[in-house]
Amino acid sequence: MTVCYFTATGNCLYVARRIGGTLLSIPQLMRQDEIKIEDDAVGIVAPVYAVEMPMMVKEFLLKARIKTDYFFFVYTYGMGYAEAFTHVEVTAKKIGLTLSYINAIQMVDNYLPFFDMKVQIETLPEKNVEWQINQLVKDIGERKLRQVHVTEENLAEMDRWTRTHAANILKKDTALGYKVNDSCIRCGICAKVCPANNITVDKDGVTFSDHCEVCYACLHNCPQSAIHMDLEAGTTHFRNEYVTLSDIIKANE
Ligand SMILES: Cc1cc2nc3c(=O)[nH]c(=O)nc-3n(C[C@H](O)[C@H](O)[C@H](O)COP(=O)(O)O)c2cc1C
Repeated sequence: MTVCYFTATGNCLYVARRIGGTLLSIPQLMRQDEIKIEDDAVGIVAPVYAVEMPMMVKEFLLKARIKTDYFFFVYTYGMGYAEAFTHVEVTAKKIGLTLSYINAIQMVDNYLPFFDMKVQIETLPEKNVEWQINQLVKDIGERKLRQVHVTEENLAEMDRWTRTHAANILKKDTALGYKVNDSCIRCGICAKVCPANNITVDKDGVTFSDHCEVCYACLHNCPQSAIHMDLEAGTTHFRNEYVTLSDIIKANE
């Protein structure tokens, strides 16, 4: 089994590890000219971003040549995933893959503009994450089928949401608006955790470019909490308790 994952704050890496098999980082795969993955089971673990998948994960699906009898997709999310499953089914169809199984694991919502991470972490036990993951692992182990039946209404809602909300949230120039305060020690960790190679750090400071994935890996993982955006719901930052900073660096560098 091969599991490809995208992570900014560790939730997806943790879930991918719990599923098991060979783990491959999507940001690293995307740096290859050609991506070919063949296995008895191939899965993706990715966060919900604005009720769809991250831009890079969609680009990965369109670029990769995946050959498998059992293709599964697992989202991690915080508050809700609405038509996120529809996006996967529509994209899988586009690339000629049959989606065998889809699921979503509710965890900490790392969307800093809306959610205070202190509250998210305190209320995490209510989400019964281990119970959800145990069910997921059992389903995948048994090669259970769970498919998506897309209706005209699903497609209309997906399009409406993408036009009215997602397009405003998932913008590649987002990081150009980030500010770095005086506590920055130019350690370069923001550049190392960025899955999109969108940050450079030198003696003059931190420079953001225009191919941001809006994952907030730089904000959440900065050891000095030096990176900020205009709208933040709290001052606490988040990383999954079973994932270290060096795990995120290894995944995204
Ligand atoms: C830009 C952005 C948009 C998000 N949108 C949603 C959303 O629509 N619904 C939701 O439940 N969670 C949303 N989230 C929260 C993440 O899906 C969730 O925290 C995920 O588990 C993070 O995975 P990671 O720790 O592997 O990066 C969003 C996070 C970001 C950064």
